[in-house]
Amino acid sequence: MKLRQYLPFVWLLLSWRWSLLPLSYASDEEQGSTSIIFTTLGRPDYAFDIYSVPVNIPLTPNSELQLTDGHSVNFNGQFAPPTLLLPTDPPPPLQLVYVTERNNGLSTIFYDALYIQQQPQTSSRRSTLESQTITKRIQVPLLPNHSQNDNKVSMKDKPTLTGEYLIYVSTHENPGVPRVSWAAVYSTHLKSGNTRRLTPYGIADFSPAVSPSGEFTAVASYGESGWNGEVEDLTTDIYVFLTRDGTHRVKVVEHGGWPSWVDDRTIYFHRRGDDQWWSVYRAILPAGKGSISVDSVRVERVTPPGLHAFTPATSPGNHEFIAVATRRPGSTYRQIELFNLVKNEFTELTRFVSPNSHHLNPFLSPDSTRVGYHKCRGEPNSNESPQLFLENVKSPVPGLSIFRFTGSFSVFSPSGDRIAYVDMPGIYVVNSDGSNLRKVSDAMTFSTAWDPVRPGIIYTALGEGFSSESTRIDIISINVDQKSNNIKRLTLGGGNNAFPSVSPDGKWIVFRSARTGYKNLYVMDAAEGESNGLRRLTEGPWTDTMCNWSPDGEWIAFASDRHAPGNGSFELYLIHPNGTGLRKLIQSGSGGRTNHPYFSPDGKKIVFTSDFAGISAEPISNPHHYQPYGEIFTIGLDGSGLTRLTHNSYEDGTPAWAPKFLKPVSIDKPKGGPYCAFEDLQWLSNMPNGNGSVVSNAQCGL
Ligand SMILES: *[C@@H]1O[C@H](CO)[C@@H](O)[C@H](O)[C@H]1NC(C)=O
Ligand SMILES: *[C@@H]1O[C@H](CO)[C@@H](O)[C@H](O)[C@H]1NC(C)=O
Ligand SMILES: *[C@@H]1O[C@H](CO)[C@@H](O)[C@H](O)[C@H]1NC(C)=O
Ligand SMILES: *[C@@H]1O[C@H](CO)[C@@H](O)[C@H](O)[C@H]1NC(C)=O
Repeated sequence: MKLRQYLPFVWLLLSWRWSLLPLSYASDEEQGSTSIIFTTLGRPDYAFDIYSVPVNIPLTPNSELQLTDGHSVNFNGQFAPPTLLLPTDPPPPLQLVYVTERNNGLSTIFYDALYIQQQPQTSSRRSTLESQTITKRIQVPLLPNHSQNDNKVSMKDKPTLTGEYLIYVSTHENPGVPRVSWAAVYSTHLKSGNTRRLTPYGIADFSPAVSPSGEFTAVASYGESGWNGEVEDLTTDIYVFLTRDGTHRVKVVEHGGWPSWVDDRTIYFHRRGDDQWWSVYRAILPAGKGSISVDSVRVERVTPPGLHAFTPATSPGNHEFIAVATRRPGSTYRQIELFNLVKNEFTELTRFVSPNSHHLNPFLSPDSTRVGYHKCRGEPNSNESPQLFLENVKSPVPGLSIFRFTGSFSVFSPSGDRIAYVDMPGIYVVNSDGSNLRKVSDAMTFSTAWDPVRPGIIYTALGEGFSSESTRIDIISINVDQKSNNIKRLTLGGGNNAFPSVSPDGKWIVFRSARTGYKNLYVMDAAEGESNGLRRLTEGPWTDTMCNWSPDGEWIAFASDRHAPGNGSFELYLIHPNGTGLRKLIQSGSGGRTNHPYFSPDGKKIVFTSDFAGISAEPISNPHHYQPYGEIFTIGLDGSGLTRLTHNSYEDGTPAWAPKFLKPVSIDKPKGGPYCAFEDLQWLSNMPNGNGSVVSNAQCGL
């Protein structure tokens, strides 16, 4: 091989180093610059790294080799085939492609060539595989253009290297249709950077898998029927097309996801079967060059009922075993196991390594000797990867910095110096630089607002979110600068009062109340509460909620299902505080969700969370998210300029606009660390044989 052929990679390396320069030269208070904070359920605790274990020895905790470097969050790996990507001598024993969020919280795809050495043995009887360490790592970002300061902010997922091409999911193209996912499969020629879309426009594809020859790619897709709001059993179909150019696209399996090829005619995939167990199935495509259709494909169930088995992994030509993730009755952890296709037997792997961790999305090495997966790296690793208090997330909008915050319902004080937030149970106040974190109440509360006039006064709802109309929930104020006697009850106990927001003159609070049996909006005296004045703002047999008062006092924005009461669909509306001027600001398709509106400091825009961009990955490939479609958007008050800010497969919610510009730099959480305290999918706890703990899903109406 001539070195010349690899020059683009040298360029890649250089450009990557260049992009490591600090990104914070933005001047402090650029004209019109603002900031937004939001919450991502569970994400601050992920600390994912990719690990592998050998498949063929009795495993102990020492058998596990950490493959990624402990920076940020690394997941959805694949071992690259033995063809060399870099002209290295000697060739690396392992090549890994994976997704990493080290690019300012935004996913991108990296390649690591890994050199492994055996440690000197202390005991000659121990298996050699048990003492490997990584001695050298060559790391290359594979899509450097997207990692620099261009406007292509997007999610990247599920990479595969095939020859000189990288096949992956990206969300950088807006289909322009509400509730249609932006996820599509792309192919990038690594030497030229030429990128081709393989998914037809108007369609979303997830979980691409390339066949061993490279000729075919299989995906999970809704095809043209589109997404119906489902997040548990995605009911996608499996399509196959030519990797070269996306042509000859054909549906091969109805209802299936997460395809994986053994040979160019055999695909393993998962689905929830009629008996409600998630199981792995095999699809055998007909031989010969005749036309393929769902009817000509033979589908067989592979894993038996009695446990959930999903996200199958195969290796080329290996008809003996596959790897799967499982959830077994009686266990709350997701583990990786092998399934022997000849003996129809499971062999547990990761339970012997880390019994109390979730292990996700296995992948096999090309020679079938290793299985990889990702899990939380567990130990606080403070120097390398501190837990973040404010995680700067790359923004697609110049002059707007955006941050992922650790708690929910986070809101800034009027000066921007403090943040109040909820971390159930309890309400906290912290300085915007992460210092002086204090719990101001142990109470179970949700929703927060600062008083714009009286210093140190915040408002919240005392009680549990997602409660029925008749539940007693009261609006309270808390003086956060007073140590005791600092709580004042403002509502008088008439059913489920929540989501307070204060008028800019500090005189009034708008909130939602279900005192008549329906959640509608009311306005009361801010200082003394409803005893000193109460007025009904909206009225009807539906839910109006999540209200926010504009900084100029002219508008109240809120979420409502008045167009389809009780159907779980929420749209955003605006109304003047005097009850006139009601109008719809945005809806997400028919039946979609738009929630948690919050005004910009200049009152011209609203930030909110929505399912406007559908979902971006198969939810079963992630930890638990109630609403994995939640992404943060902004829109002008006249309904123009809809802008998507976040791109990921997580649940982003409760956004708030900051009164001043925050430098786009992450801030560490004092005494933070990766705690790994996230949950596996709650709906995977439902064991069809009645052995699981049944956990119900929360509703969107709060
Ligand atoms: C990266 O940018 C260069 C120069 O602007 C361009 O020629 C190339 O096609 C781009 N590559 C990708 C992957 O977009
Ligand atoms: C609410 O959902 C039900 C059941 O899906 C449907 O029949 C009804 O038309 C919906 N109502 C509205 C107003 O969309
Ligand atoms: C209601 O408030 C709006 C906005 O402040 C104002 O333009 C309008 O004249 C008011 N209407 C009434 C009837 O007071
Ligand atoms: C629970 O699981 C055990 C063993 O897996 C089985 O014997 C038992 O019948 C199951 N219980 C129910 C209610 O199905």
